[in-house]
Amino acid sequence: MALSSESRHGMWSSRWLFVLAAAGSAVGLGNIWKFPYIAGENGGGAFVLVYLGCVALVGLPIMLAEVVIGREGRRSPINTMRVLTQQHHRHPAWVIVGWLGVAAGFLILSYYAVIAGWALFYILRMASGAMTGVTANVANQAFNDFLASPGQMLLWHTLFMMFTVYIIGRGVIKGLETAIRWFMPLLFVLLIVLVGYGVNSSGFERGLEFMFRLKWESVTGETLLIAMGQAFFTLSLGMGAIMAYGAYVPSTASITQSVIVIAVLDTLVAVAAGLAIFPIVFANGLEPAQGPGLMFVTIPFAFGQLPMGAIFGTIFFLLVSFAAITSAISISEPVLAYLVEQYNAKRKRVAISVGVLAWILGVGTVFSFNVWADVHIVGQLTFFDFVDYVSQNIMLPIGGLLIALFAAYGLPKTVIAAQLNARGKAWWIGWRIVVGCIAPLAVLAVFVATVVEFDTLMAWLNLQ
Ligand code: PHE
Repeated sequence: MALSSESRHGMWSSRWLFVLAAAGSAVGLGNIWKFPYIAGENGGGAFVLVYLGCVALVGLPIMLAEVVIGREGRRSPINTMRVLTQQHHRHPAWVIVGWLGVAAGFLILSYYAVIAGWALFYILRMASGAMTGVTANVANQAFNDFLASPGQMLLWHTLFMMFTVYIIGRGVIKGLETAIRWFMPLLFVLLIVLVGYGVNSSGFERGLEFMFRLKWESVTGETLLIAMGQAFFTLSLGMGAIMAYGAYVPSTASITQSVIVIAVLDTLVAVAAGLAIFPIVFANGLEPAQGPGLMFVTIPFAFGQLPMGAIFGTIFFLLVSFAAITSAISISEPVLAYLVEQYNAKRKRVAISVGVLAWILGVGTVFSFNVWADVHIVGQLTFFDFVDYVSQNIMLPIGGLLIALFAAYGLPKTVIAAQLNARGKAWWIGWRIVVGCIAPLAVLAVFVATVVEFDTLMAWLNLQ
């Protein structure tokens, strides 16, 4: 039996609402902005395949685990871990999963709001017609000029954080429903329009080849780590966001189907974003590995060439901003729910405090693109690179690893089987093997491969 059948924070009114909300969390900047540029920086094809493998083998089973744990505990991730360990007499140290998630959430939210601020700014930029008919170089220069201005960036960063705080303060569940229902399908339609443009452009074949041709020689331990980090990030895993949303899932809803729908939707959006962006990159001699600015140069340029491009471009960035908001909300939910539970505090107040803290941290990311561009925290990493790298590539996989282990060994088998309604189902054993063994080993192996240089490892394996 679950501890309680309802959460004090409210409940999704149906399974589909959960699917929409979780898809809203998963589909965000990670798919449209991050995936194409990371794939571009890491050699394309082989990266994409490793990433898809991580989504299927590691991401999907861990997502299932997060929802199950969340629904069993019905509280914020920190308190869910606390009550479940108490109830099942497990070591209290498991609560670290919740704390790690809160820390990762702060780091991610801090830079997420900055990049989402860029998208807000581009709504205006596209609407003004400033990008209509410009060359690729001009689009590139316009973006660099924007990055060079900390004042501009701060303004949009602040605005995005204010929107987020406003929505999370009001209570997510009802306010979001209508919006998600309208905006997610629209986002799909627009992506399809853009992919259509890409397919018809002269760079389509090269784009396709870049994304899907295997170049194993470009895969290093680091590539594996980045692909895995991206799989966690894009599915919102490893930090309790999905666990927090899982706490609001009605007891009668089937979790397995929902999770598959969410992961498939998320993957489709990422691949579509790549198919929209890379053909334009190649058709116009742009650089696929140009980094975080990729989407902000290619998309405005492409729309600038289209009839009614200013209108479509405006809608596109509006939707990107909206996809970002639905994700930002879920990044804040674990800490928000925890503070409300712990201090009986008003959601509004908690939302403001969380927003202010994350905003302050975000200023470091704003400066990373201008005044602190030459300040390196470790190696060549700027403040933004560092926060991004540590949260995405280290904290999320470790969080995910612990969540998988807890689902496999921390909770009694019967509890999970009841949650998943899994008695007598063939996939049940498979899932247990994946969560208890394959996914944790894969995460560990990738960490080891990063530390021990991948080439050395391969050479060693060949010798055996
Ligand atoms: N999945 C979101 C995206 O792809 C980001 C996110 C990460 C959301 C972690 C919640 C938790 O943009």
